[in-house]
Amino acid sequence: MMQFLIAKARKLMATMSLAVAIMLADPAGTAVAQVTVLLPTDGDIKATLALPGDIQRGKEAYAECQTCHRKDGSGRAKFNIPRLSGQHASVLIKQLMDIRSGLRVNPEMKDYMFDSDLTLQDFADMAAYLQSLPVVDNIAQGPPELVPRGQAVYASDCARCHGEHGEGRAELFYPMLASQHYSYLLRELDLILTGERGNSNPAMPPILRNLSADDKRAVAAYLAQLPAPGKTATP
Ligand code: HEC
Ligand code: HEC
Repeated sequence: MMQFLIAKARKLMATMSLAVAIMLADPAGTAVAQVTVLLPTDGDIKATLALPGDIQRGKEAYAECQTCHRKDGSGRAKFNIPRLSGQHASVLIKQLMDIRSGLRVNPEMKDYMFDSDLTLQDFADMAAYLQSLPVVDNIAQGPPELVPRGQAVYASDCARCHGEHGEGRAELFYPMLASQHYSYLLRELDLILTGERGNSNPAMPPILRNLSADDKRAVAAYLAQLPAPGKTATP
């Protein structure tokens, strides 16, 4: 209960600081999509982004995460554990800071992150290490017959933010979606739609509301089979 109340209070503060930021950034309030991803653990995110990540040290710190996310960072589709290898360091840092602050609801990891003595430097190092890892070919796939439909949904509704090839945009914290596990993508689409994820970009739920269940399965199936641009392991 206490945890829940703390999370609620944090969310309220997030909304308040967001409103202030929008007013500061643009009195007409038209820049919503640009500012929403930067708050509210902005301080820690900025501080971590400013630290040069050390790949070798990151490899050592990451040892603690391998049980769940696997040694090669490829995740475990069965338990909705995402692939982290090849993801933008900025995205990894933002998500980790959001999980740590409770803004992104992630009970599996949250207690672990609180108990651990991880420093901001450790997070910067792990993000650099994970970004450097190739994407291996064990990504859980969706129904192949839905891929063409998913491609059309993606092009019309998602590509403008997540990139033409699902590559994301590091500087705006847009995640790379190509070669992510089908089941994890589907789960996140629902958590983002309902707001349960906690740190959803406000621009996404209205888009997702217009998609049918089959559209969502289709777009997840399309993304899971899409090669990660420039990240695939050379055979
Ligand atoms: C007990 C299992 C477990 C451990 C240990 C764990 N994670 Fe996770 N992690 C998860 C799960 C489950 C999710 C996805 C939760 C959800 O559906 O939102 C996740 C999500 C993430 C994400 C968000 C990825 C994205 O695409 O948004 C990052 C980054 C991450 N973990 C990094 C780490 C790091 C770094 C460590 C070690 C310090 C770690 N995790 C330890 C289970 C774990
Ligand atoms: C306005 C820009 C924008 C549009 C359009 C958009 N997204 Fe997103 N999306 C984001 C941002 C930003 C995040 C990261 C949220 C955060 O960090 O708070 C995200 C996160 C996600 C995630 C979670 C990824 C992960 O690793 O956990 C998925 C899945 C996703 N988007 C899929 C989609 C799909 C599918 C569409 C089209 C139907 C779409 N998005 C449209 C901006 C957008």
